[in-house]
Amino acid sequence: MNPAYEKLMKCYESVKARIDFKPEIALILGSGLGDYGDDIQIEATLDYHDIEGFPVSTVKGHKGRFIFGYVNEVPVVCMQGRVHYYEGYPMTDVVLPTRLMKLMGAKVLFLTNAAGGVNFDFAAGDFMMITDQIASFVPNPLIGENIEELGTRFPDMSEIYDKDLRDVLRSTASDLGIKLQEGTYIQLTGPSFESPHEVKMCRVLGADAVGMSTANEALAANHMGMKICGISCISNLGCGMSDVPLCHEEVQETADRVAVQFKALVTAAIENIHKVL
Ligand code: HPA
Repeated sequence: MNPAYEKLMKCYESVKARIDFKPEIALILGSGLGDYGDDIQIEATLDYHDIEGFPVSTVKGHKGRFIFGYVNEVPVVCMQGRVHYYEGYPMTDVVLPTRLMKLMGAKVLFLTNAAGGVNFDFAAGDFMMITDQIASFVPNPLIGENIEELGTRFPDMSEIYDKDLRDVLRSTASDLGIKLQEGTYIQLTGPSFESPHEVKMCRVLGADAVGMSTANEALAANHMGMKICGISCISNLGCGMSDVPLCHEEVQETADRVAVQFKALVTAAIENIHKVL
């Protein structure tokens, strides 16, 4: 058996032995949404440490657990803390949790992250609905023997971020009076922030926001046939676009500042997505 699939199934068996809950929507919480769990009617939690073979995040402030519960009656599984490629895990480990949530029953993957804005029309504190992505600068998680049980060898990528879900996010934000930018997300490896010319490169390539996660998870979810949507919290403008050097604290501060709005948007979007499933 493919070792990545073997590991995934081992984790799945470990989860199944502890949790009896079928989520409809899988939510990955980025920086700033870390305490979103407080808004969920929690049925159960499962620490990543307690899942045999599960990759565990080392980033400070990232809690590592699954939350199972309801967001206004909608059954969700929520990752409080994700793993990043820059932590040193193989890409198959980085996407293992995403695959696991699909096996648990989730049909939709709702991705969130903090990202740097590379579009000059963006400002720190904006939200951006992800309409497409560039993942060519990180290893593709589908490299290696294809896991036929999960999906096809050469998956189509023409609509990674589902059009119906994009319509839902757009109308949800509009109903709430929240400004929602739209654009393409580019994933680089990190952990260093980009140089000014790398930010320029991202813009030339057509990206609007840059980050260190998300696209790889979307790739794995697309392979498995999940419906995907995503929102970036633009926590800062890319290096070189303003005079101040970038630091993780700035990312966290902006994310914290807009967290209440971000949570309101995510909660309403989950309710509305559920209606169109
Ligand atoms: N670059 C990459 N990742 C990020 C940034 C950034 O500027 N801000 C938040 N995550």
